[in-house]
Amino acid sequence: MSAADFFPERITFPSLRAAAATCRGCPLWKLGTQTVFGEGARRPRLMIVGEQPGDQEDREGHPFVGPSGLLLDRALEAAGIERGDAYVTNAVKHFKWVPDSKGGKRRIHAKPSTKEVRACHPWLDAEIHVLQPKVILALGATAAQSLFGPATKVIAQRGRQLKTELAEMAFVTVHPSAVLRAPGALERKQAEKEFVADLKKVARYLRA
Ligand code: URA
Ligand code: SF4
Repeated sequence: MSAADFFPERITFPSLRAAAATCRGCPLWKLGTQTVFGEGARRPRLMIVGEQPGDQEDREGHPFVGPSGLLLDRALEAAGIERGDAYVTNAVKHFKWVPDSKGGKRRIHAKPSTKEVRACHPWLDAEIHVLQPKVILALGATAAQSLFGPATKVIAQRGRQLKTELAEMAFVTVHPSAVLRAPGALERKQAEKEFVADLKKVARYLRA
């Protein structure tokens, strides 16, 4: 079973989006409130790929609208990239979570397994094929490895041009949640600066 078992007969952006809403290609559909499909420009110059929707994305049905999304928006603006010109999506379209250990109501993010990432990959692949972005940017290891293979190393390759058959060019950088998790205020500021520096390299490529 994978997302491919739920594909529409005619593949267009609206038909994919509609089909993904009822996907049961892996067990995560039972955990999430809804499928959070990608959103944004239809002929994007840039496709930005995260890991999976978070708590807020799961409730609202839109990618990157929670804390990571706010940081992403700020960093894109600092780098001179319009989010509206981009298409934003995730490697996995359902929110995977575990109840918090104190028995509270909080839903704690859980990392999707390799199997779940693989099961969801057909949606991501189809998004790329129908939208044909000029540049693809992966945020964090889950997206990077889903797109460019298991050997992709985010820290070693961040901010560098990455050749791919999926688009004219690709880049990887850290996930914004890694910036938010930096241990102290200074470290966090530094991590955000490095994140913005990577996005500026993407911006420069897009302008060239
Ligand atoms: N983190 C992600 O990877 N994607 C989202 O949509 C939100 C948080
Ligand atoms: Fe389908 Fe992906 Fe959701 Fe799994 S995570 S049910 S493959 S949309």
